[in-house]
Amino acid sequence: MEKRTKLLVILLIMVFVFLGYRIYNGVITQTVYKSDVEYVIGVSQANMREAWRVALINEIQEEAGKYPNIRIVTADATSSVEKQEKDVDRLLDFGIDLLIISPCDSSRLTKKVADVYQEGVPVIVMDRSVEGFDYNLFIGPDNNLIGKQGGECAVRLLEGGKGKILELRATAGSLQSEERSQGFDSVIRDYPGIEKTVCDLKNDMKDPAYDAVFAMEEELKRVSLIFANNDSVAFGAYEALKDRNLAEKIKVIGCDGFTGENEGVDLVRKGKLAATISCPTGGKEAVQYAINILRKESGVPKQVILRSHTIYPQNASEYLAALDRESMDDGRRITVGYSQVGQESQWRLANTRSIQEAAREFHMELLFDSGDQSQKKQIEAIRRYIKEKVDVIVVSPVVETGWDEVLKEAKEAGIPVVMSDRRIEAGEDLTTTYIGADFLEEGRRAMRWLKEHVKPEQGNVRILEIQGSEGATPTEERKKGFFEILKENPRYEIVYTDYGDFTYDGGKKVIEEYINSHNWDVDIIYSHNDDMALGAIEALEAHGLNPGKDITIVSVDATKEAFQAMIDGKLNCAVECSPLLGPPLMKAIRDMVAGKEMPLRIITEEKVYDQSDAETVIKNREY
Ligand code: AHR
Repeated sequence: MEKRTKLLVILLIMVFVFLGYRIYNGVITQTVYKSDVEYVIGVSQANMREAWRVALINEIQEEAGKYPNIRIVTADATSSVEKQEKDVDRLLDFGIDLLIISPCDSSRLTKKVADVYQEGVPVIVMDRSVEGFDYNLFIGPDNNLIGKQGGECAVRLLEGGKGKILELRATAGSLQSEERSQGFDSVIRDYPGIEKTVCDLKNDMKDPAYDAVFAMEEELKRVSLIFANNDSVAFGAYEALKDRNLAEKIKVIGCDGFTGENEGVDLVRKGKLAATISCPTGGKEAVQYAINILRKESGVPKQVILRSHTIYPQNASEYLAALDRESMDDGRRITVGYSQVGQESQWRLANTRSIQEAAREFHMELLFDSGDQSQKKQIEAIRRYIKEKVDVIVVSPVVETGWDEVLKEAKEAGIPVVMSDRRIEAGEDLTTTYIGADFLEEGRRAMRWLKEHVKPEQGNVRILEIQGSEGATPTEERKKGFFEILKENPRYEIVYTDYGDFTYDGGKKVIEEYINSHNWDVDIIYSHNDDMALGAIEALEAHGLNPGKDITIVSVDATKEAFQAMIDGKLNCAVECSPLLGPPLMKAIRDMVAGKEMPLRIITEEKVYDQSDAETVIKNREY
């Protein structure tokens, strides 16, 4: 090489190094000097081949661009677990302050994510969760619900609920595609006039979808609608229909709903797709929560499940306008009207304290009413709040049904309603979001713990169940989740069940009644909350029985009183249900008033405790 060329090459390398660039595994990356920035966020993406994932990275970059003190470093795992593990190590070597990861394989990346979290680097998991809870926050869509929305949309488009649907399953076999398909089927199965066939596609690309649909010449003659679980595939299908002169006859529904030319919303506006179901990436939320986590702010939940919308030509412009909505925050103090269930349990008292303290911390005006477990009283309180023109109404409902009328009144008055702790059955547009626990999972955890710790010996394991209040979400779901695991284990059976209303006296009464009418023949008590379990313990002891020893007792909540009972050897396991909903609730209200779209569900962190850790945990237990 000539001397001058050599000098030029050396100079270029020096500039390259000076700017912090290096080549690693064929990828050019830029080292970020931490003195320039406050936080470096590493993003490990499963692959950058799927349009949805590219959109996720773009959204993260765009949101991070609003904060001059944040840098994003990304890595593409090319769908390889081994590469993704190495990517995470490499990002840690860069000195990232927080990791955002969308794992390409949930179970095989669980350990890596847990290691990072335990090393003290906060982790946000996106789209597909890992196993267990060793991460700070999970953000993702509800794919089953997206499928359901697709099903409802199909029924609506097939006026009269009749016709043949062709479902195009992009990236067939993936969890996402299965969940969407199941959700879709759960709706159309109620319409006997609807028939469905499935075409599995290996990927989510437009051209292969075009080829597959174009080749179905004969079959298409009988099809009235195509449901594609991704917009690129839907677009490919539309083009094939157009080339077969069938675009007028067969309607196409897609999923994703991105904005931009030839993306889902645009295709709907142009009339190429009849509708699309949005599947938000959560990139924006990830950056915002990352900042909350890094700044150690309160109110960060454990799971955020994002909302999806059905976009038709008629509401597409409105949808786009809502995305650009300006902040409604005018600096006023926010007034919140809170309708609480009652005071039935220690959990409830801790929950009320948490709400009141958080309202003070977030400088909000809180109007609070305890409903004494009466729906009538709760409805009266909601009507009062409507009259008083509060900014937001929050309801922790005693039962799931019977709220439509009063919620419509709130909607007409323009007051958003947030569900806290418990959910209701009501029109989707009547409430804004749900903040609380995953009761189904609590039920599953209770039974999983039991099957690990109480093994069948002679005969079946006999379970007595004390349910909460009839018609309340925690009752329904704790029962359902428990049963889901129980039915996979035929040696366990529920021999008796009754309601204890979530109160100490209620639990005690269920056991007394059982003892008075049966010879004691129960191995396990599964109680839907701690107060009822403690009442049950008193009744058992009064009849000379040995709770925690002869009878294994599992309950839900994990209050301080439950820990004490575990230390005393009377209770065996407590599945956590956190009452500390105040901070995430107030944070969500503040975001909502500032014009941000509310996620579908905001779920709190929960664990399972037993006698082995009770002594340690009780020391710092807040409730
Ligand atoms: O809705 C949450 C449940 O209600 C708690 O588990 C129970 O203790 C409470 O009263």
